[in-house]
Amino acid sequence: MPVALVTGIAGQDGSYLAEFLLGKGYEVHGVMRRTSTINTWRLDDIYHDPHDPGSPFFLHYGDITDSTVMANLLRKIMPDEVYHLAAQSHVQVSFEMPEYTADVTGTATIKLLEAIRQLSESTGKAIRFYQASSSEMFGSTPPPQNEETPFHPRSPYGAAKVFAYWLTVNYRESYDMFATNGILFNHESPRRGETFVTRKISRAVARIAAGTQKTLYLGNLDAKRDWGFAGDYVEGMWRMLQADQPDDFVIATGEAHTVREFCELAFSHVGLDWEKYVQVDQRYFRPAEVDYLLGDPTKAQRVLGWKPALSFPELVKLMVDEDVRRL
Ligand code: NAP
Ligand code: GDD
Repeated sequence: MPVALVTGIAGQDGSYLAEFLLGKGYEVHGVMRRTSTINTWRLDDIYHDPHDPGSPFFLHYGDITDSTVMANLLRKIMPDEVYHLAAQSHVQVSFEMPEYTADVTGTATIKLLEAIRQLSESTGKAIRFYQASSSEMFGSTPPPQNEETPFHPRSPYGAAKVFAYWLTVNYRESYDMFATNGILFNHESPRRGETFVTRKISRAVARIAAGTQKTLYLGNLDAKRDWGFAGDYVEGMWRMLQADQPDDFVIATGEAHTVREFCELAFSHVGLDWEKYVQVDQRYFRPAEVDYLLGDPTKAQRVLGWKPALSFPELVKLMVDEDVRRL
């Protein structure tokens, strides 16, 4: 049974990846932070009984900035594959907490790479490493963006991801490690955090339709993003670690839409006119914006045989329907 260690297991991608890997017959170990209230709602479907001795799913407390804990966990679990998904992942928050974001989203990656290197060298264990890199690294470089496109990050988050990206490349080149960057464009789902724009919209649509919210305040409606479905994207991560060679891959749909278009579709799905409910609030504008992200996933399609299944309208409907159902 292959063994995987997933950081950020309680996040959007961690939960979809855990489900996917369990379906493939993996033993899955997840790292999560201790929080004052239980924060495992995204894992409810797979984490029924923590005392079930036959369960191939294990949760461990840990913080990715704590290298001792991460090294101990690696030694205990001896994973075949490590998926490093944990991060301070909110771009706007990274302007408010730049140093913290650099520590968690940037520096923690080198701690993990180094712990893996040391474990592999001392035991001979081959461990494949996936780094959750981001289209935010492209920043202001014009679209379409692919693996050859130069980076120009526009936020502390983007800069921290560029640092982690190059460290991953550097460990691959220096120590012959199987270390791979997945450069993922925006991917969403009903499990998306509530302060990212898509989920903020789908949640507001459900509440406005139910009469419990009057107005939705948003920032830049002109920003364009290449939005895909998180459930499709975690398969891309897994495929990268099954490849013959470690490499870097863009995962995207190849189609971009504005925040305004997302609003139009989401509101019209419940029979509402978005313009009656959405107001622009300067508070949600960023010190520097990423205007236009549009990925070219040709390499992932050619080398990994990966392609997205869910379309943009299907994604919007899925998110709105699920928020309506929850409410
Ligand atoms: P997410 O929902 O914010 O999940 C991130 C997870 O990391 C959360 O469970 C969080 O824990 C955990 N975490 C944060 N700081 C930690 C720390 N110091 N120690 C341990 N765990 C920590 O993000 P996501 O959308 O699943 O994204 C997964 C990864 O892909 C992130 O690295 C993100 O930057 C990257 N990425 C995402 C996208 C996208 O569009 N979703 C695109 C490109 C790249 P809590 O639950 O306790 O907060
Ligand atoms: N969050 C948010 N809230 N964004 C808004 C709002 C608002 O009220 N109004 C407009 N936007 C615009 C932002 O300015 C941005 O241009 C766009 O909507 C998308 O914002 P987010 O959903 O916060 O995502 P992001 O693109 O900044 O970052 C996400 O995608 C990256 C990949 O490109 C995150 O998941 C990152 O972790 C990820 O790396």
